[in-house]
Amino acid sequence: MNDPQPQTSVAGPARPLSNAAELKQRRRDLLKALGDEAVLLLPAAPEVIRNRDVHHPYRQSSDLTWLTGFPEPEAVAVLAPKRKEGAFVLFCRPRDPEREVWDGYRYGVEGAVEQFGADEAFPIAELDQRLPDILADRRRVVYPLGLDDDFDRRVIGWLRAVRALARKGISAPSELVSADRYLHERRLIKSKSELKIMRRAAAISAAAHQRLMQRAAPGCTEQRLEATFLAACAEQGARFQAYPPIVGSGANACVLHYVENAGVLSDGDLVLVDAGCELEGYASDITRTFPANGRFSAAQRRLYELVLKAQRAAIAKVRAGNHWNQPHKAALKVLTQGLVELGLIQAEGADLKQLIKDERHKPFYMHKTGHWLGMDVHDVGQYKQAGRWRRFEPGMVLTVEPGLYIAPDAEAPAEYRGIGIRIEDDVLVTDGEPEVLSAAVPKDPDEIEVLMAAASRTV
Ligand code: GLY
Ligand code: MN
Ligand code: MN
Repeated sequence: MNDPQPQTSVAGPARPLSNAAELKQRRRDLLKALGDEAVLLLPAAPEVIRNRDVHHPYRQSSDLTWLTGFPEPEAVAVLAPKRKEGAFVLFCRPRDPEREVWDGYRYGVEGAVEQFGADEAFPIAELDQRLPDILADRRRVVYPLGLDDDFDRRVIGWLRAVRALARKGISAPSELVSADRYLHERRLIKSKSELKIMRRAAAISAAAHQRLMQRAAPGCTEQRLEATFLAACAEQGARFQAYPPIVGSGANACVLHYVENAGVLSDGDLVLVDAGCELEGYASDITRTFPANGRFSAAQRRLYELVLKAQRAAIAKVRAGNHWNQPHKAALKVLTQGLVELGLIQAEGADLKQLIKDERHKPFYMHKTGHWLGMDVHDVGQYKQAGRWRRFEPGMVLTVEPGLYIAPDAEAPAEYRGIGIRIEDDVLVTDGEPEVLSAAVPKDPDEIEVLMAAASRTV
């Protein structure tokens, strides 16, 4: 079993695409947007070696999945509007019975046509030979410009190959255009079927957070909580995480990207868990903070309730027509006011507006209040358009995640030092009230205490 070839996560044969019609519509819409002079090239994500002949679990590029659903590496999707043999061409690995014994099923060129709706499919080895023809007499090549050095070089090579045909009267593309603006604005608005998956991803993560909370107790390791989360997600059908879980107890919670998860919970600690599964290519991203011993201390509760109030104020601003920065502004207002009241900011006569302008929250709250959420945890889509914060539209999903991080050596009352709190939910913009996809996991401090008291939390 030590064959040197890559492992892939290719599904078995004849697995029908449940969203084939939707993907076809996306391609149709994109073909129209591209216009007749452009060709879109979308490469599969490369496989990444972990060590020697072991690869990291394969994850397809979100763009390629969104447009084609094709799950295998070593593939390039082409959309060539008005091409006479058909506009959708897929280059992929051919069937290979010998390799399939080791690595599992490959769809092959037959599967690319039959199951993924390609008009034509060719072995990936024929890319260099066939692409110049496809690019001939087009003005523009649209592709993920600058994402992968190797693919950038190959595109230039194909352009040169077309240029070499100039004496036959063939003209080569003269513009390279980033695919982002074609794909990412479309990915930002989620369809009904995408939202169905995102609701389920959030529900799986929410249940896993609850299970983890019920396991936490002084003496428990952060790693055990991580393991509980991973197992709970996997058992519910989500094998992969959208990002590495953060499980930080005590002062570890003040390290924003703490992923060592190597500490042990102490009596009196808060525990910050930022974890979310990926389901069918879609992310969830949830943070909860709770007391290791099941009861918030008075100081912890004061800070926690402040973050919760800020989060609720921010979520209330997630409404169609409001702009991207309104939730952040709402959170900052609540947090800054609260930090003054708790003695963490010395206002010295300055009013709230001035304190916010001076960013006096920055020592304790150094990140923004959220990001787009979708196939990528920090999803695609612009935050500003023509220099202005963009407006929310139904179908957009974002996180709302204010926090407070009082470092152990911070200039702050001793009772607050070493406390890190973040509360993060996944929120859908609708025509009316915001829909909190991750609402199933409690965040009210009393509800957290009730949930934790209901468990027999022994180490
Ligand atoms: N888990 C990454 C983030 O919250 O942005
Ligand atoms: Mn987040
Ligand atoms: Mn998060």
